[in-house]
Amino acid sequence: MKKILLFASGAGSNVENIIQYFKNKEDVAIAGVFSNNPEAKVLEKAQAHQVPTTVFNRAELNEGAVLQQIRKIQPDLIVLAGFLWKMPEAIVHEYPNQIINIHPALLPKYGGKGMYGMKVHQAILDNNEKETGITIHYVNEQYDEGEFILQQAVNIEDCKSPEEIAAKVHQLEHIHFPQIIEKLLITNP
Ligand code: GAR
Repeated sequence: MKKILLFASGAGSNVENIIQYFKNKEDVAIAGVFSNNPEAKVLEKAQAHQVPTTVFNRAELNEGAVLQQIRKIQPDLIVLAGFLWKMPEAIVHEYPNQIINIHPALLPKYGGKGMYGMKVHQAILDNNEKETGITIHYVNEQYDEGEFILQQAVNIEDCKSPEEIAAKVHQLEHIHFPQIIEKLLITNP
């Protein structure tokens, strides 16, 4: 049995999609959803699917308490699905090539600190970009700089608002993210 541990800060459409994708797969379990945001909608979504949730603050993340909880779970893969804080080095070092993130743009464009969610889509609209996309990548010590696993582009010439761009990006995320997670779990025994 392979175990996935999810980290998320917000609405949780990706988390819900991943939970649903693996629901009937007997060899994969969603071990939990960890969030820095006690108000995050993702917590209700996880609980509705009987997935255990944990909320932590910045000190617990950066000073070892979260790492201790991760050790107890022993996940095969840690998945950042709309997680907006930086993963501390201690966690990154303990799980090399076992932490992945999804970014709602074609990195290295529109990445880095402060570039998340609607801010990314607004910047892309402001710059009249013709296309955007998603990047799934390994997590290292720097924001959005780990090795790429997958990029997929989408045309956005018809989009007139950041919300329209977000909808197209979410569609791509929901198709590809669970598939990549599954592939990584199978190929990294
Ligand atoms: C997703 O689009 C994800 O790519 C983005 O946050 C959104 C979360 O949506 N992540 C980042 O911006 C990370 N820098 P969701 O809560 O509905 O899954």
